[in-house]
Amino acid sequence: MRKRILSSLYQEKNFVSGETLSKRLGISRVGIWKHIQVLRKEGYVIEASNKGYRLMSAPDLLLPEELVGLDKKVYYFKEVSSTMDVARKLAQKGEEAIVIAETQTKGKGRRGRSWYSSRGGIYFSWILRPTISPSHAHLVNLLAGLSVAITIRKLFNIDTTLKWPNDVLINEKKVCGILAEMEAEADIVKFIILGIGINVNNDISGYIKSATSLKEQFGKNISKKKLFLQLMREIEKMQPYLANPQPIINKWKRFSSTLGRYVRIIMQDKILEGQAIDVDNDGALILKTKDETLKRIVAGDCIHLR
Ligand code: BTN
Repeated sequence: MRKRILSSLYQEKNFVSGETLSKRLGISRVGIWKHIQVLRKEGYVIEASNKGYRLMSAPDLLLPEELVGLDKKVYYFKEVSSTMDVARKLAQKGEEAIVIAETQTKGKGRRGRSWYSSRGGIYFSWILRPTISPSHAHLVNLLAGLSVAITIRKLFNIDTTLKWPNDVLINEKKVCGILAEMEAEADIVKFIILGIGINVNNDISGYIKSATSLKEQFGKNISKKKLFLQLMREIEKMQPYLANPQPIINKWKRFSSTLGRYVRIIMQDKILEGQAIDVDNDGALILKTKDETLKRIVAGDCIHLR
């Protein structure tokens, strides 16, 4: 209902009477007033006069009622431990939804690290159920990283690059991190939880030297809502390519700041150094080591050396 009230207020741009809203939405004027009170608590500034209600400003939060045009089930939290954990529980119950939080108290990063999730950033986990084999699941990381890089380039015309497998960088500093967790059975993926954290309006470089936020890059606040909705569209466009990844891999390579570089790859059981020479069709990195042997690396942490 609040989504519908907001959409009426957005449309009119001027006062809309309580009576019009009441007729349009089929609830009493008192009901409308109660919803207006809730919206105000959420941070909407809504003027009320004898002419009715007028929307003056909206908070830059990813409230479900703000995500107009997104036809997905959304679970929204002002604060949560980690959207990954909430999404996993929902996925296990068979849900296909997006879990969004304004802040996380236990944000999860790759390889057991934590993810700094202060207010102003975008943090969400999307439950995906692609019909692909577990050996192709890693591609989701590349697809998501590429979608974020494309979204930021499109909206802000700024050079974004990709560090294998999925960090999005601006001026060599990390602006977005991606974590994909999979549950599979025999030869099929049951679900993948795609977790994306983007530093948008939060101050980050003071806490993490190698990171940056969009606000730090542009010197002004960015609309989280606009960024999130565009990103959703980009990810949707990419999904069919999971079954036929060549075009995304080619595009990923054009955005890559890893290929051609000397890198250190930290894996569960070993560390390798060499030149990153290619990414294969499954998204694995091909590394040429000092002794000229080629190694295929499916997962690991990559550090750019030179
Ligand atoms: C990385 O280490 O680069 C991956 C970071 C992934 C962070 C996102 S924020 C939304 C989702 N919830 C989490 O707890 N982590 C992911």
